[in-house]
Amino acid sequence: MFPKLFLFCAVLAYVFGGEIPIYYDSFDGEPISAEEYRQRVAKNTTFWCTNVVEPCDPNEWRRIDGSCNNLKNPNRGMPHTPNLRLLPHTFDGNGEKGFEPRKAQSGEPLPSERPLRTSLLPEGRVPDRVFTQLVSHFLVFLVSDVLSIHDTINYVLWKPYCCTPKGKEDKDCIQVKIPDDDPVHRFGHLRCMKLTRPLTYQSEGCLKNDTVPDRIVTPTPTIDLSKLYGQNLETLYSKGRLFKHGLLKYELEEGRMWPPSTKTKDNLCILNQKPVESRCHDTPEPISNSLPGINLFSIWFWRLHNYIATALSKVNPCWDDDKLFYTAREINIAFMVQTIYYELLPALMGRNNLIVEGVISDNPGFRNLYNEQVLPQITAEYAFVLRWFHVIQENEQKMYDAEGNYLRSVPLTNITLRTGYLAIDNNIDYITQGVFRQAGGRFDNLVDPDIAEIGLGPMTEGTDITTFDLVKNRHFGLAPYVKYLEFCNGRHFDTFDDLAGYIKPEMLDVIKDKYKHIEDIDLMAGLWTELPAEGSFLPKTLQCLMMDQHVRFVVSDRHWYERNNRPHAFNLEQLLEIRKSTVSRLLCNVGDTVTEIQPNSFLRLGPGNEITSCENLPTINFWAWKDPACGGGGSTYWYSSGDNEGNPHFWAEATD
Ligand SMILES: *[C@@H]1O[C@H](CO)[C@@H](O)[C@H](O)[C@H]1NC(C)=O
Ligand SMILES: *[C@@H]1O[C@H](CO)[C@@H](O)[C@H](O)[C@H]1NC(C)=O
Ligand SMILES: *[C@@H]1O[C@H](CO)[C@@H](O)[C@H](O)[C@H]1NC(C)=O
Repeated sequence: MFPKLFLFCAVLAYVFGGEIPIYYDSFDGEPISAEEYRQRVAKNTTFWCTNVVEPCDPNEWRRIDGSCNNLKNPNRGMPHTPNLRLLPHTFDGNGEKGFEPRKAQSGEPLPSERPLRTSLLPEGRVPDRVFTQLVSHFLVFLVSDVLSIHDTINYVLWKPYCCTPKGKEDKDCIQVKIPDDDPVHRFGHLRCMKLTRPLTYQSEGCLKNDTVPDRIVTPTPTIDLSKLYGQNLETLYSKGRLFKHGLLKYELEEGRMWPPSTKTKDNLCILNQKPVESRCHDTPEPISNSLPGINLFSIWFWRLHNYIATALSKVNPCWDDDKLFYTAREINIAFMVQTIYYELLPALMGRNNLIVEGVISDNPGFRNLYNEQVLPQITAEYAFVLRWFHVIQENEQKMYDAEGNYLRSVPLTNITLRTGYLAIDNNIDYITQGVFRQAGGRFDNLVDPDIAEIGLGPMTEGTDITTFDLVKNRHFGLAPYVKYLEFCNGRHFDTFDDLAGYIKPEMLDVIKDKYKHIEDIDLMAGLWTELPAEGSFLPKTLQCLMMDQHVRFVVSDRHWYERNNRPHAFNLEQLLEIRKSTVSRLLCNVGDTVTEIQPNSFLRLGPGNEITSCENLPTINFWAWKDPACGGGGSTYWYSSGDNEGNPHFWAEATD
């Protein structure tokens, strides 16, 4: 078999002008030899540890698998490539006895996580005055675009026994202790919460076990809607593309458009209440069936792709399926990124702060900040600190009708892994209305008791997601909180008193009670107790680490949508149309029953953000994509917000 493979490679090499399709080590990004590749096949480590890169063409579209984003480092940007560490790892041990969570300065173990969490982050449920529920749904979707949930699947499904005696023997298991005087469990029997160690390059056999553990993640580290399009051409072709008119596969049911479904692999939707609930999506990334936020946004962006492709095919009847597909994908991605950068982040972090840090521009024209030296990577810190947003998650999802009358509510934990629920009783309509009418959880230091005590719903007993955030903090080996304060503020922090102005005064007392030394403080403990940054709703250090990453996305992504000197770049007219993207526009275009909405639906309805007809909101004019090659005149089709709202004929038209 191998000689044939090499012959094939040689032929390809000839066709591609001497360039050999190359195998890269996923961790260090260097090409590996044919011999090394063969050994990896024998050891079955290629899936995690090796990237296969077809020769790069500097003028091609953004690749599905993320390769060739950085032309000098072609595998960077692909699945299974490492996070960047802003600060070095901190573990206990030198590898001989493994790597364990760091110790306190005294040499003792750090304070136990669950009691630490119950002291630093009490439970409660207060509606936010500013933000809607849509914020945390969208953030969860963003997280799923760049981060894996395999560590969660691991302790829920693959190794569900971590709190049993078998779990004591399994080195991958973590038993999180619940103390006898726990405020919730003191009256019950539960004394252990099951968790597993993160998957790493070491656990998957890519690096030796005596090297410092490095977490391995699956998604491409750029914002590229990889939850829709998948991460390789094979699944995109088999589960995504319709290969007609640039569309993604779809199903129409009672006038609603859905992604394609599966009847056979519905174990992806384990909580469907059969036989009433049967819908389960079979898309390139099955994770779309998981958390409701991921599920909803996957459905909406799936529909938006088809909405865009249909509009483009009307404007340019001569475009073939490929051109329609890739153009629609590029617009869809740009729509999402524009919404994150110019609507969501400004609401959370302050528009001016973002301009000062160079995350966004105050000018609607092009931005060419690409820097080939910065690799497309997310930082381990960004990946971790986004967990702070568990604090604003409100588990109760309210449901409203299209006139804004409250109907009922359902816990999000009940409808996770349960796509079927969305498809019955008009539930998706009522939830869609709910996400922009309902307040989110308050930006305070209280966590919703459901997040802290139920966590993942019926599949685990007593899961405290926020305690797990602390446990993971230590198992990921993140440096102490004060090191990040120093990183962000450029000064030293030596004593607890130096934390005045950073930690909320009343919480500083609790911190001093719990930790003996300032260097002991865990990063997440710092975030939970910190004061917000100026002009922002986010804790200072969270703000700093998010700013860092959001600049990185701009400068490291060769296909960044605001660039004009990239392959298939938008022209200025097109970019100005993309600038009209908002999450309310998304819901107006593809959200069930949405005909009126507030202009910014990350923010609560109210003075200055009153509900208004979708027709009054800016909308993308697809005539900006008119291709003269298709001839003059053409379709008289005009795309405006008023046109096809909620009209199933729009989708029917798309079929041929
Ligand atoms: C090879 O590795 C893949 C990915 O980790 C795994 O799913 C598969 O079961 C492995 N095959 C064998 C024979 O061990
Ligand atoms: C490294 O550790 C993993 C478990 O974390 C184990 O499966 C693997 O066999 C170990 N490798 C070596 C070479 O000891
Ligand atoms: C949510 O699930 C819990 C536990 O399974 C159940 O007791 C409760 O009735 C469910 N709530 C709703 C609104 O479905």
